[in-house]
Amino acid sequence: MTTLQQIPESLQWNGESLKILDQTKLPTEIYYFDANSLQDVREAIVKLQVRGAPAIGLAAAYGLYLGVREIETESLEEFHRQVRQLANELISARPTAVNLAWAVEKLVQLSNEATTVSEAKLIIMEEAIKLHLADEATCKEIGENALTLLHDGAAVLTHCNAGSIATSRYGTALAPLHLAKEKGWEISAYATETRPVFQGARLTAWELSQNGIPVTLLTDNMVGYLLQNKKIDAVIVGADRITANGDTANKIGTLQLAILANFYQVPFYVAAPLSTIDLSIETGIEIIIEQRDRTEVTHIGNVQIAPDGIDVLNPAFDVTPNSLITAIITEKGIVSSDFKETFKRWEHGE
Ligand code: MRU
Repeated sequence: MTTLQQIPESLQWNGESLKILDQTKLPTEIYYFDANSLQDVREAIVKLQVRGAPAIGLAAAYGLYLGVREIETESLEEFHRQVRQLANELISARPTAVNLAWAVEKLVQLSNEATTVSEAKLIIMEEAIKLHLADEATCKEIGENALTLLHDGAAVLTHCNAGSIATSRYGTALAPLHLAKEKGWEISAYATETRPVFQGARLTAWELSQNGIPVTLLTDNMVGYLLQNKKIDAVIVGADRITANGDTANKIGTLQLAILANFYQVPFYVAAPLSTIDLSIETGIEIIIEQRDRTEVTHIGNVQIAPDGIDVLNPAFDVTPNSLITAIITEKGIVSSDFKETFKRWEHGE
């Protein structure tokens, strides 16, 4: 059995290139490849080789550096023009997870303070590294806050993978489980398989069992049965974008979990860093939902499971309204009502 520290990291920066853990090959193969250019990183994000809101933000931050290091001009004005284009290219890779745009825009903004092109390039690289390092501490704080809502012996249901490999370490929704394990608690998890691309089965079931946390896998349509028949203490999920009023976009299928949790009066928690909160949007209706390739639904791996040419729906995320969310757990604290007021205070460092 491994410990959390031995679970492969999603990203490794070696100063020259970004090593990306290819999450499409898990759980059967642990395979890293080198991303040497912005296009390599963008492609890895689109193909879900790196996925999970915080991890794609971090990958994009390094991707921006890999792009800007190729810029040849000495003119700062021309440099900033090209940086803007590269930033837009990265941000368009996946539209729903706000962490991607958050990380890229942060680096673009900081690079505006440079007085030379080489200084701007250095700032982008150093800030990408800082974001990467800070993410682990943030996730740990989220986990510690989330643990205050659980107890030794708790059973937690989760969806998709908001775990260590979706961040720099610990994860968001899975952070309390990893921390509970570190404390010696007997905690257990239920993981939905998460159709269409099985992040729950392939990633969460793997990650938790790697860390010795008992995990039971169920298909997405077994959640009603589970909540009706077993004692589940909490549902905890991650988030891709949280609007000012607390509405939350997360992996497709999260909404039905929230509805069922409410019906069975099981607390429904969203765990996410402040970088997932988008105060520029008031409500969830404004969130752009990524629509993905039809073959994710018509095929499992290379095996076709639906008739040729069938119409398909494949939204990657859905939006859970704030009324179904018991609390949102961040590194700053836990909020269960008056989301907007609290988010604003946090944004102002209060
Ligand atoms: O399409 P994915 O696998 O990137 O979706 C991931 C999720 O929905 C996660 O719950 C979310 O990004 C939080 S990851 C800490």
